[in-house]
Amino acid sequence: MSTPDNEVFPFKIIPSDSETQKAIARDFAGYPNGLASFNHWGFKLSATFSAGEIEDLYNYPTKPGDVWVVTPPKCGTTWTQEMVWLIANDLDYDGAKTTLSERWHFLDLNALTDKDILAQLAPVRRMEDISQQPNNSSHRAQPSFVKTHLPLSMINPRVLDVCKVVYVARNPKDVCISFFHHCRLLTHVDFLGDLQMFVKYFMEGRMVATPVMEHMIEAWNMRHHPNICFIFYEDMKRDLQSEIRRVAKFLGKSFSCEQVDELAEHLHFDNFKNNSYVNREEGKASGFFYADRGDFIRKGKTGDWKNHFTPEMSAKFDRWMAEKLKGTDLLFTMELEKQH
Ligand code: A3P
Repeated sequence: MSTPDNEVFPFKIIPSDSETQKAIARDFAGYPNGLASFNHWGFKLSATFSAGEIEDLYNYPTKPGDVWVVTPPKCGTTWTQEMVWLIANDLDYDGAKTTLSERWHFLDLNALTDKDILAQLAPVRRMEDISQQPNNSSHRAQPSFVKTHLPLSMINPRVLDVCKVVYVARNPKDVCISFFHHCRLLTHVDFLGDLQMFVKYFMEGRMVATPVMEHMIEAWNMRHHPNICFIFYEDMKRDLQSEIRRVAKFLGKSFSCEQVDELAEHLHFDNFKNNSYVNREEGKASGFFYADRGDFIRKGKTGDWKNHFTPEMSAKFDRWMAEKLKGTDLLFTMELEKQH
């Protein structure tokens, strides 16, 4: 809700054209009301999210010392959340025995979800506190932890003045494949098409939480800001200990080699997948996930795109990436020789 103290959200909301709306409603059962663009390069959220609500997110109360994880979907958000939380909380493994949803506020959950679909899910919701409104959280403990898929341009600049932001990026081919599985797994997204169709939506930036390249390029251009720590999923895969040390330094913490090794072990894919506080398996019982469409913590590999893309799809994707990356020095690791 707009109040005299609120800062005005700087972008105009533009609904997708009617052909796109029809296509979205047909191909994504979770978006019967379609999507809208919420910033200058067309970041898509549910068309049911209002101007007043996005302004509320823009004015989310921030406190010095709060820690944010900002990332497009499927870049390793959940993995990074657990790493960041444990580092910021001096490796409090006992404290980490509550779900991530209890430890982190998911800022834009409602913006990513169609209101009509949310209303259907509401009676069974347990996984996330969907009713939580940002402005209700003024009595939160210090520091607090915020996760968002909103791009930096849609987050109040005040956040970067007073909070620490860890931004995680991932190579777009693996993001796309991971997102495809995710959009089939989530009942409130429920993608009904095939991979080829999905890749088209992804590259055209016509589906929810896209375009992803602009999201990452924008953050890459801000990576030298003292309150941003820009990390790559592939670097976490390659050398998790080094990334732990880098994030620890950023958050003003220092740990022994043994402590870093222990955290890396805790975060290892095999342990993570079996950790009920982070693996979101409860989503199946609560009706958020289909029970028979795989797991949220899925493969955790770099280069899984090679198991999905045909040579033609891959070549087209490469051309698209090259076009988007023109004029930037952002480089992605598309595969790793050795994976842990
Ligand atoms: P895949 O679908 O490629 O397996 P997000 O949390 O942003 O939704 O990202 C999910 C992706 O991160 C999934 O990728 C998931 O398997 C992967 N992931 C989650 N935990 C991981 C871990 N501990 N190690 C490696 N990858 C992990």
